[in-house]
Amino acid sequence: MKIILLGYMGSGKTTIGKQLSKKLFVPFFDLDHYIESREGASISDIFKEKGEIYFRKIEHLYLKEFLSEKDSYVLSLGGGTPCYAGNMDVILSNTNVTSCYLQASIPTLKERISKNKTKRPLVASLSEEKLTEFIAKHLFERRSYYEQAQHSVIVDKKDIDTVVAEIRILLH
Ligand code: S3P
Repeated sequence: MKIILLGYMGSGKTTIGKQLSKKLFVPFFDLDHYIESREGASISDIFKEKGEIYFRKIEHLYLKEFLSEKDSYVLSLGGGTPCYAGNMDVILSNTNVTSCYLQASIPTLKERISKNKTKRPLVASLSEEKLTEFIAKHLFERRSYYEQAQHSVIVDKKDIDTVVAEIRILLH
């Protein structure tokens, strides 16, 4: 079983992915963690020291490496992964992979991201007032990529188990 979760920062990809993998008895991976371990550096340090363009290049390479090596998994992508370097086409061309978009509203994303901004280089320096506007514009740019996923689940105001149960229904 090969499942990919995608969506904006703060949509719950990692939290939902971990719980889903337990229920399905398949290993969980997070592409950001995979990149960090392969590069021996945190995402923040990669952005700081090598820049976003470098990050997008290696994100693409490690996504392809991951997909060609792993047999059974739930994989959570980074928020930007589907939107760069033809990554969404790569994912969709793997016909045995099921992709699912975790769809969250702007207020939900704002609330979740503002609790944990520092680890996210794209938003770390934004004020609370600027954050909502940034998310709204950014999500508008990215949504067309996310919406290419085979399935999508609305996550607003739902607990983890509810979202996991909804994804499992979609997988049948
Ligand atoms: C990014 C999201 C992050 C991480 C990097 C860039 C983005 O992942 O890949 O900071 O472009 O949205 P999360 O969505 O897990 O925060």
